Amino acid sequence: MKYYLAPMEGITVHLFRNSYEKFFNNIDKYFTPFLVPNKSESFKTREFRDVLPENNKGMNVVPQILTNDSEGFITTSKKLQQLGYTEVNLNLGCPSGTVVSKNRGSGFLAKREELDRFLEDIFKIDNMKISIKTRIGKDSPEEFYELIKIYNRYPIEELIIHPRVQKDFYGNTPNLEVFKDALALSTNPVCYNGDIFTAEDHNNLIKAFPEENAFTKVKAIMLGRGIVANPGLMNLIKNNTTIDKTVLKAFHDEILNNYIELFKEDKNALFRMKELWGYMIYIFSDNKKYAKKIKKAQKVSDYKDAVLSLFEEQEIIEGAGLFYNQD
Ligand SMILES: Cc1cc2nc3c(=O)[nH]c(=O)nc-3n(C[C@H](O)[C@H](O)[C@H](O)COP(=O)(O)O)c2cc1C
Repeated sequence: MKYYLAPMEGITVHLFRNSYEKFFNNIDKYFTPFLVPNKSESFKTREFRDVLPENNKGMNVVPQILTNDSEGFITTSKKLQQLGYTEVNLNLGCPSGTVVSKNRGSGFLAKREELDRFLEDIFKIDNMKISIKTRIGKDSPEEFYELIKIYNRYPIEELIIHPRVQKDFYGNTPNLEVFKDALALSTNPVCYNGDIFTAEDHNNLIKAFPEENAFTKVKAIMLGRGIVANPGLMNLIKNNTTIDKTVLKAFHDEILNNYIELFKEDKNALFRMKELWGYMIYIFSDNKKYAKKIKKAQKVSDYKDAVLSLFEEQEIIEGAGLFYNQD
């Protein structure tokens, strides 16, 4: 089984990926948060920083593109090709209102004829593998049965399925019935994504879709929020080892220092770190008061104090996952 880190805008950016690789080194493929094609010859600074080869050394990284304009997709792919990338990923999953209203991300799933034409165009690019990250529909899971007919017309490097519809956002539970059908119906390799927060979640999924069963095609699992919440999750899954507090603290400190260096302004660095804590806080015992302190901190020194007291006074809960202890 291969394991991928999910693209998460503002979170699994190059700083996070590099630190993760250094401390944990157990991810087969990293996906960048989405890039949006623009008309100019170059990338936006933030996007460029994220795909620049020197910021992604020693990692297997796939840039992701969000658009419904085939020309923009092709131009951006060619720019990425020049940087040395051999695979790009198409985002057909983003549920955000502003994206969907422009018929992009999971909004594109409701425009099947346009989607088919778009795919026909982009699959003409030479020497570039294209994978797709998709939800199973915009409004209803039934839409997937039409979408898969379209996907099967193209040599997709990998079809990464997050089995929710746009309307679900992150609510409801992943639809494993439709995912099972996807495995049977897809002529392309399939990767599962969604709600793997604990080793138990992972093991239940594997049990439901065993690799040795020739009928199934799950060759890879992509994890997002689960890893951000518990950066030790992959080691727990692979080797049954729990993360050490000192390792997590060192990982955290490196990300913090790199953000401070990158942004120069502490406010921006703290904003990013607080986003991480929005996930990571749940793996700590009795975390409420520390969560508040971290959120409130306006100065790096206050932030560091709050984090240090959390690490000193609380423990990482065994078997912890994202929504553990949350009420
Ligand atoms: C804050 C946030 C940002 C995300 N950004 C992206 C993105 O840029 N591209 C994308 O395809 N999915 C994005 N996603 C979706 C994740 O990649 C993933 O599909 C989703 O979180 C379900 O997987 P998980 O349960 O393992 O987290 C984002 C999700 C979150 C919560």
